[in-house]
Amino acid sequence: MKDLHGKEVVQSEFLKNFPDTRYMGSKRKLLPDLHKIFSQLEFTSALDAFSGTSSVSYLLKSMGKAVDTNDYLRFNYYTAKAIIENSKYKLSDEEVNEIIKFNPDKDNFIEKEFSDLYYSKLECRWLDSAMANIQFITNPYKKAIALSALCRACIKKRPRGIFTYTGMRYDDGRKDLKIELADHFSEAVKMLNASVLKTNETCKAHNQDIMGFKKTNYDLIYLDPPYFSLKSDNEYSRRYHFLEGLVSYWDHVEINRSTKTKKFDRPDSLFTSKNTIVTAFEELFDRFEKSALVLSYSSNCFPDAATIKSLIKNSGREVELIKIDYVYSVGTHSHKKDNQSNKVKEYVFLGL
Ligand SMILES: C[S@@+](CC[C@H](N)C(=O)[O-])C[C@H]1O[C@@H](n2cnc3c(N)ncnc32)[C@H](O)[C@@H]1O
Repeated sequence: MKDLHGKEVVQSEFLKNFPDTRYMGSKRKLLPDLHKIFSQLEFTSALDAFSGTSSVSYLLKSMGKAVDTNDYLRFNYYTAKAIIENSKYKLSDEEVNEIIKFNPDKDNFIEKEFSDLYYSKLECRWLDSAMANIQFITNPYKKAIALSALCRACIKKRPRGIFTYTGMRYDDGRKDLKIELADHFSEAVKMLNASVLKTNETCKAHNQDIMGFKKTNYDLIYLDPPYFSLKSDNEYSRRYHFLEGLVSYWDHVEINRSTKTKKFDRPDSLFTSKNTIVTAFEELFDRFEKSALVLSYSSNCFPDAATIKSLIKNSGREVELIKIDYVYSVGTHSHKKDNQSNKVKEYVFLGL
């Protein structure tokens, strides 16, 4: 694998298995740089506190670390359970076929609520059927692979991979949009199966607001919080509410009927408001006071790098700042790839 400057870096052979992703803020492209950074630190246990797609957790796991993941969105938790906590189970072709085949006893919630919002009526009907079939999987890891693969299929089949708008107005004729959900699903299972990896350490996936996280005895915590900027919002559930609802068949969230997108109200997070974000960082640095800290950050964020530096210092750690050139190519700005305003410095703060 090459770093952002095209230089080949020493890399665990496992990393190439990590499923390619389209997720706002994913650090997949930065993994070679993060690998270099982690390689220079001595640690065994780590918490990826805002794990998202689990890309960084996967790097840490492939480096032989005992890694726990945490994300307050449940669909991210299932990916972590499938490829970080799981070191053994895969979905067989027969099991995939059982999920794909039409289930006449299915419920029709998705068809009723979401037809033609993000997918056609027929596609929604297939999602209802797939969810009904997935409920029969008793092994929690196989179930996690199935749910994670279903979310991945939904992202692939959705223009721009997000659910902030209804209809298909950003359909650019991409091949992925022409492929059936069931085929995307089978492909996703193959990728997830291929990334199941056994190491000597135990890994665990968590699903909660990090501000209430109780276990704190990690050698290292990796923090990749939603980047807060005064210009755009950093709220993940607004973009991915459909996937979050899907994994529990909308059992743990309530659709806000006054919204066209049928999203649910945003979960509370101290990281999504200008008034609370500084306190959030302070609390977090204190909560994990015994852990070395690796924080991903960006030059166009609030608060600025100087403030973050002093917050880390105030927590009793020595700070080092590493700068990486980076052009955003995911999320809602992907159409502006060449726009220099998307060229930001990606920072990594070390607090040791
Ligand atoms: C920048 S993304 C992490 C991306 C990840 N490193 C990757 O490579 O995919 C931030 C993540 O933090 C999660 N998040 C936001 N607020 C949170 C909170 N208070 N507690 C736990 N997770 C939170 C979001 O759901 C999102 O997945």
